[in-house]
Amino acid sequence: MREETKEITELILEAAKKARKETSSEPEPGFTQPITWPIQCTVGPGLEGAIACETKIGYVNGAKGWLIYRGYDIFELCAYSTFEEVSYLLLHGQIPNSRQLKGFKKKLFDYTHIPKTKRRIMSFPIEEMNTMAALRFGIGLMRQQQTYRDIEGVIPTESVPISSDEDSIPMETIPKGEPHAIYQFKGKAFKRPPKSGSELLGSEDMESCYRLIAGVSSITATIARVRQGHLPIEPDPELSHAGNFLYMMTGRKPSALEERIMDVALILHADHGMNASTFTAMVVASTLSDIYFSIDAAVAALSGPLHGGANQRVHEMLTEIGGPENVRAWCKKAKEEKRKIMGVGHRVYKAYDPRARVLGPLAEYLAGKNRHIKPLFKTAHALEREVCSSLGKEKCIFPNVDFYSGLIYSAMGISPDLYTPIFAVSRVSGWTARVLEYLKDNRIFRPRAVYLGQFDKKLNRGV
Ligand code: ACO
Repeated sequence: MREETKEITELILEAAKKARKETSSEPEPGFTQPITWPIQCTVGPGLEGAIACETKIGYVNGAKGWLIYRGYDIFELCAYSTFEEVSYLLLHGQIPNSRQLKGFKKKLFDYTHIPKTKRRIMSFPIEEMNTMAALRFGIGLMRQQQTYRDIEGVIPTESVPISSDEDSIPMETIPKGEPHAIYQFKGKAFKRPPKSGSELLGSEDMESCYRLIAGVSSITATIARVRQGHLPIEPDPELSHAGNFLYMMTGRKPSALEERIMDVALILHADHGMNASTFTAMVVASTLSDIYFSIDAAVAALSGPLHGGANQRVHEMLTEIGGPENVRAWCKKAKEEKRKIMGVGHRVYKAYDPRARVLGPLAEYLAGKNRHIKPLFKTAHALEREVCSSLGKEKCIFPNVDFYSGLIYSAMGISPDLYTPIFAVSRVSGWTARVLEYLKDNRIFRPRAVYLGQFDKKLNRGV
């Protein structure tokens, strides 16, 4: 255990102990045994309870508050693993050995270089766009750069000159003494353009998943930098994926503590069953569209306030409440107005969300060190107590993953408009893993709706 981050591991282990004490983890037979199609299940509105496929990637036991990735408990992974290992685990089904991990990390690092995509992003006024819209835009550009799918018979050339404009971009930061302007296309950063259709990058292959995991972090960091009026920064080979993400986003080398906390946050968000964005990615992939489109669509689904967009709304809500002393009155008013409290409640969890069990103590730990987030943390803590004693008792509603995550990002100097893109930086691992798994035995998703309209209307336009 590294000395600087030992306290974080201890907090996670403490949360795990508490979870074990308060819940007993048992698999539910209906959701953990092989399916013989067709199956019978009880389906509620919003496909609640519907079973869409089998998976070996992950399992959420909502009644017990249990989250498993490929057989490993989430607390175990947070305490002793890294985001790179977890992403590899989700994609390949096993924890990588040291050689595999080294290779995977190298690929992620190399694929974080997307200079052409970054340059194109910067040519658009993304600072005026919603950050999730900007991320989708970036993924679209990356798809074009990586697949060349839409250019029939055109062979893009590698000899794209560095324009005088690009030459004039000053190297704002020089992480490792780059000899060239950061936008020069290096061999390793530039995928050789395809010579024929059959050479197109197989869009549903593992390599595309790696590129997307690296690319979403790179694009998000670029968006963050451009919105702050700065130029993007290239990654530093000395840093982990989480560390590089923070570095590329803030322009500041993160401390070991910050790197570790971001790593834990990424692990916690990496996969979560058939949630709306994962399902969206799978639906798009099931049409044999391509994985860049799938991930693009997943980002769109994630952006909604009922899903990943809730983390930003929590920040707005806590600011609006204004202090712990206002929590009770605010909740009373919210109830009268039938307004949902952001960052609480979940379709599957009817027990405390294990991810919030880790994020809550981490936010508290950071609030003890950071006076800027302390008031917001106090409000959040008071709100949690109020929710647990009212909605918790009445409706099994507790804080979810989005309740405390923003406070953690805020403590690291990240602005609220980036909270949801950060969610995507992590969840892209789960999205890609689930798409790959589903495509092995693909069947297009196609549920039905019950028609309640009329049958016998006439236009009455004839003579
Ligand atoms: N605040 C107040 N009441 C709530 C909340 C909430 N956040 N969430 C659910 N309830 C109430 C509902 O009004 C409903 O009450 P009723 O039975 O009297 O009608 C009851 O609890 C059951 O909730 P549903 O609406 O059936 O829950 P559903 O599964 O449809 O929605 C959801 C789940 C969207 C997460 C909901 O809890 C919510 O809106 N939460 C706030 C937004 C949020 O935090 N989203 C992030 C979820 S985690 C993630 O996606 C990463």
